[in-house]
Amino acid sequence: MANEFQDRTALVTGASRGIGRAAAIALARAGAPKVLVHYNSHAAGIEETMAAVREAGAETSAFQADLAKVEGIHSLIALVKASGAAVDLLVNNAGSLVKRARLAEYTDELYDDVMNLNVRSTWLLSQALAPGMIERGRGCIINLSSIAARNGGGPGATIYAASKAAVAAITKGLAKELAPKGVRVNAVSPGTVDNDFHVKFSNRQILDSVIAQTPAGTLGTNEEVADTIVFLCSHAARYIHGQTIEINGGMFMV
Ligand SMILES: NC(=O)c1ccc[n+]([C@@H]2O[C@H](COP(=O)([O-])OP(=O)(O)OC[C@H]3O[C@@H](n4cnc5c(N)ncnc54)[C@H](OP(=O)(O)O)[C@@H]3O)[C@@H](O)[C@H]2O)c1
Repeated sequence: MANEFQDRTALVTGASRGIGRAAAIALARAGAPKVLVHYNSHAAGIEETMAAVREAGAETSAFQADLAKVEGIHSLIALVKASGAAVDLLVNNAGSLVKRARLAEYTDELYDDVMNLNVRSTWLLSQALAPGMIERGRGCIINLSSIAARNGGGPGATIYAASKAAVAAITKGLAKELAPKGVRVNAVSPGTVDNDFHVKFSNRQILDSVIAQTPAGTLGTNEEVADTIVFLCSHAARYIHGQTIEINGGMFMV
């Protein structure tokens, strides 16, 4: 069977660990010959990702940028443009809760960091890379929403939840704008994935209670989310536009 990704270049943000790393590797395994990756703080992690991407047969290079700051987002855009890469598959994965904080202690700075990282970076990277996709008449943008967008998030995660709801809305709006130009925009919305995110922001008790409420009886894995990202980029998903696919073991059904 012909490799449908054979002439596609991918860019995955936040690929130094977790879902982003799994997505970069999965896209390389699916046959994308070039998978560009971004990271912020975890330099050793991005080296591991690049080694796995190369092992899967793809070329790769990495860009560092702090996407919680507006200058960082513009710096990543400049780095990608300077590389000359023609990005066909953009995975806006980098994201974080940054810090759990309730209404009374939520600062302006934390608000800006969370919104920049999760929303503004998704918007500005799409704005920067969609014109090339439109010119080539093909492209896919995959955004990362969250179950938090639907349920308001756990304790101290309200603005994170709001940011992920914004991502789902951006996904629909951009899908309508870009579908006539040959570019598909979709999102994935993980439930609770067993990775560093929850090492940082949850504890065993919280995770056990999630498992108890999940019909599938387990937490999600990075690879389960990555496989859905590859599917959404594929020809098999060619008529899917503006959707946010919930991946949560049946914990929350819409
Ligand atoms: N884990 C879950 O249960 C879950 C559920 C729903 C949605 N999500 C979403 O899925 C996406 C991936 O998360 P994950 O679970 O893989 O989390 P993770 O393991 O914590 O990885 C987060 C990635 O985002 C990058 N990142 C974090 N802060 C950044 C910043 N200020 N600037 C640039 N990059 C930054 C990290 O880079 P460095 O490590 O290099 O700093 C890392 O590569 C996120 O958008 C997250 O909100 C996760």
